[in-house]
Amino acid sequence: MQAIDATAIRTWGIPRLLLMEHAGLAVARVAHTRYPSSTEPILLCCGTGFNGGDGLSAARHLHAWGHALRIVLTGRLDQLREEPATYAAIAHRLGLPLMELTTPQDVARAEEWLAACGLIIDALLGIGIRGDVREPTASLIDRLNRSGKPIVAADVPSGLDADTGVVHGIAVKASVTVAFGLPKHGCLVQAGPSHTGSLVVDPITLPRTLLNGTTNAA
Ligand SMILES: NC(=O)c1ccc[n+]([C@@H]2O[C@H](COP(=O)([O-])OP(=O)(O)OC[C@H]3O[C@@H](n4cnc5c(N)ncnc54)[C@H](OP(=O)(O)O)[C@@H]3O)[C@@H](O)[C@H]2O)c1
Repeated sequence: MQAIDATAIRTWGIPRLLLMEHAGLAVARVAHTRYPSSTEPILLCCGTGFNGGDGLSAARHLHAWGHALRIVLTGRLDQLREEPATYAAIAHRLGLPLMELTTPQDVARAEEWLAACGLIIDALLGIGIRGDVREPTASLIDRLNRSGKPIVAADVPSGLDADTGVVHGIAVKASVTVAFGLPKHGCLVQAGPSHTGSLVVDPITLPRTLLNGTTNAA
């Protein structure tokens, strides 16, 4: 999937922003259609990588559809680069509340938002995870899993290895996972099925021939 993503961007000239826009739209659509009666705010949990950018992109759509949103970021806003920074700036201008979490103790500050939300979106970690989940993300995932609230995961449940289905210390137990491009093998094997929930696959406008292997990814 990383090779397909890179080929779409570098060889086909599809800006990453377009892919992220459609990834965010896919997540927002699933949240909006599967949990239409939820009038409580949506808690959007974002990491500082491109997976977090997908979540911040979803925020724009959900806001446009009238949802109340609260965003927690597992890092500082000034760590965001490129497209995720663009979407974070838009979220700021839309007036969406955002809390930066940098230590495990900070997770307690998000407790009120967690208790008040009707739905969680997990955009903490995607296919770029390296090693066991670090703090404060690990504490946040533990808290999300114990909340009893429905969770929509972006691409892959955070903490689950997208290739092997092994849990990197701790992983989100999602109600629904919206996979971008192709379903990730790790969602289907090992601990994958017990963490993925139902699986929705959205092509996010990646070229069909790249996804079906007719055109080789670099
Ligand atoms: N075609 C596609 O599939 C497609 C297209 C567009 C977007 N995307 C999205 O982009 C995602 C991949 O983005 P990405 O490569 O930026 O990776 P990522 O999954 O967002 O992960 C990288 C981020 O997570 C942090 N991180 C890595 N390992 C960690 C750990 N063990 N504990 C805590 N934090 C950790 C990194 O911080 P450090 O750098 O500080 O380690 C970095 O901020 C996909 O999953 C998808 O959501 C995919």
